[in-house]
Amino acid sequence: MKFPIAVVLALLLLGQAGAQLLPYERYESDGIPPDVYRERRLHLVASHTDRAAILLLSADVRNRQNDVDYEYRQNSNLLYLTGCTEPRCALLLVPGGFTWNGTHSTELFFIEPRNPDRETWTGIRMGPTEAERVLGLRPALEYSALKEVLDSLLRHRDTLYIASGLPTPSVELPIAGTRIEVEQLLRNWLHERFPGLILRTSLRTLAAMREVKDAHELRLLQKAIDITLDAFEATMRNAKPGMAEYELEAIMEYHFRRAGAEDVGYPSIIGSGTNGCILHYQTNRRTTRTGDLVLADCGAEYRGYTADITRTFPISGRFSPEQRQLYLLVLEAQDSAIASAQVGAPFRATHRAAESVIARGLMELGIIESPNEVRRYFMHGTSHYLGLDVHDAGTYGSLRTGTVITVEPGIYIPPGSPCDPKWWNIGIRIEDDILITDSGPVNLSARLPRHPDAIEALMNASPAAR
Ligand code: GLY
Ligand code: MN
Ligand code: MN
Repeated sequence: MKFPIAVVLALLLLGQAGAQLLPYERYESDGIPPDVYRERRLHLVASHTDRAAILLLSADVRNRQNDVDYEYRQNSNLLYLTGCTEPRCALLLVPGGFTWNGTHSTELFFIEPRNPDRETWTGIRMGPTEAERVLGLRPALEYSALKEVLDSLLRHRDTLYIASGLPTPSVELPIAGTRIEVEQLLRNWLHERFPGLILRTSLRTLAAMREVKDAHELRLLQKAIDITLDAFEATMRNAKPGMAEYELEAIMEYHFRRAGAEDVGYPSIIGSGTNGCILHYQTNRRTTRTGDLVLADCGAEYRGYTADITRTFPISGRFSPEQRQLYLLVLEAQDSAIASAQVGAPFRATHRAAESVIARGLMELGIIESPNEVRRYFMHGTSHYLGLDVHDAGTYGSLRTGTVITVEPGIYIPPGSPCDPKWWNIGIRIEDDILITDSGPVNLSARLPRHPDAIEALMNASPAAR
């Protein structure tokens, strides 16, 4: 919808005359009680000295083009600590406590006040009153008060933490050939105003908290995974040669949205043929051909939590002998890596396990001559944390119970590789989401077939499929 500026002005004037606040209604929540968020904040506060202050800022609204913005997604740290999904808000944690307008607290929340004219265009917002009532964030102040509060508070603090940097850390100035480094500007500004104040942009305690999932998070993550598994099944059942990659993407994301996922956790990767060898391929425009493998790496985002699953399947419903040989090798690597995901194991344990299986197997097949060459065909890590972010926060120390990681080995052989051309155009990754527990690893995505026989059975189960 595009309106001439005069129409917009007229509508704004009319709006000022007549717009009223509509009641705030929360259509759906994540089911995590405000007390749980409060416990998280208290834990973070308790792990810092009275001389520190911690500021968490909402993600920026990003412009897509002209007057259209990208769909909004909250900053994950702020989401983890408040449950607030709205833009233009901030959480200030004050371990030593702070009094503002007669209220003493270790936490202050800031959010845009309600504005009927703006809400006519961009939707109903919660504002401070509802933030207090619905999210239990007290006191909730108007966003514009943040600067004044910081001015008063930071004179008496020696360290300010701004977790994971700023919403937009730097902005490129193309013609000038330079960048505006927002973090440096902020450091300079703080230094002038509060000499001696130290700015820290990493919050290890928060990363360590997010690394271990509580029961609420595991419930939401499992829901995101279950939605994703159903969507994968539907996609694989309906796949047939001649379909464009985007058709497969459409089936996948249709099932995500239909099941209530609000978004994808990252752009869907549907790489057929050679495109399966591009690790983060997102174009998804090629038309599949008989004999292609399709690598699908997709994850639904549900209440902020994302799945991250990859399956590689033959578009025609049958693996060729070469595809099957390499597939079985990746599967063996994944099994070995999953088995190594034990409490107390170093974070790299899964990668070491997967890499050694793939190196040995590629040598046996004559694709490489020495184990050092394995990185040519398996060039990424095997695991990352999973949660609110697809590459979630964590400390990369030993594996802890309650942590969820991916296990995702792969082999990618683009055309022109220095091996027998019969291996060319094969890109395979198998990725599952693994919960670390005291009694061993639990595959949260186990119900989606991984073995080539089971994939072929699934793909050929429906007579309508091909
Ligand atoms: N989907 C991105 C990744 O697997 O890390
Ligand atoms: Mn992954
Ligand atoms: Mn993935």
